[in-house]
Amino acid sequence: MTSPRRILITGANGTLGHATAQYFLERDPECHVFLGVRERRDRAETLTSQFAGRAHLCPLEITDAESWNSAIAQIESTSGLLSVLINNAGYHDDSLLATMTQVQWSGVLDANLNAVFLGCQTALNPMMKQRWGRIINIASLSALHSPAGQTNYAAAKAGVIGLTQSLAKETARLGITVNAICPGHIEGALPATWTEEQIKAVKRETPMRRFARPAEIAAVVFFLASSEASYMTGAALKLDGALV
Ligand SMILES: NC(=O)c1ccc[n+]([C@@H]2O[C@H](COP(=O)([O-])OP(=O)(O)OC[C@H]3O[C@@H](n4cnc5c(N)ncnc54)[C@H](OP(=O)(O)O)[C@@H]3O)[C@@H](O)[C@H]2O)c1
Repeated sequence: MTSPRRILITGANGTLGHATAQYFLERDPECHVFLGVRERRDRAETLTSQFAGRAHLCPLEITDAESWNSAIAQIESTSGLLSVLINNAGYHDDSLLATMTQVQWSGVLDANLNAVFLGCQTALNPMMKQRWGRIINIASLSALHSPAGQTNYAAAKAGVIGLTQSLAKETARLGITVNAICPGHIEGALPATWTEEQIKAVKRETPMRRFARPAEIAAVVFFLASSEASYMTGAALKLDGALV
């Protein structure tokens, strides 16, 4: 491994992205974390003040190849070659397929799947130069256990798992591992439309009777990004409190 690790987290102002960035910054005093931000940046800015010199804002529109090139160039000129990519940014826009617009379909596929292709392709060059790299793709339980109303999101996240497994084979001898994580519901990031009653009902269905804390997902990402996780590649890990 090249030290210090240079880590890019997309969607780093969001619930999971922010928690993951904080987890790395607190536990690895050497690492540099590049916080991919698009519109909102308040939480990311808090980290840049708290960890001045090691946490950096990195403007990134994940659906745009040029934006990826600029982000990689910024990382290289600030601290060196990218070594860890966490494709975390994404969103859902739920609707029954019968009434789903093409904009809903394409938007979700672009941000959740096509952007992962762009990110992986851009990251491979610096990782191949180091003969070391870690790519962690945040998929979703919806990829494995697809609910009604999420044909676009479920297809995109299932695509992320396929991409992960295929790319892992292409990079297996280059020191680059590629894994996916499939979280169930995350505390603090539930669908805005859910009522208190719905939240209680979903918790009752979950054998652990609670949702994941963002730091519990971040801990698995942290392990996958380590040197110790060297034989784990092409995996899709379900983190759902035994929901399915
Ligand atoms: N929440 C859950 O229960 C759950 C469960 C399973 C999987 N996941 C997955 O986990 C990941 C993080 O989810 P979260 O709940 O933390 O989401 P969140 O709080 O809504 O954050 C999502 C982040 O993605 C960014 N983003 C979206 N589209 C983008 C684009 N085109 N370019 C650049 N940035 C973009 C957003 O930036 P802006 O500020 O610019 O909007 C935001 O920072 C997502 O991939 C999600 O699908 C979440």
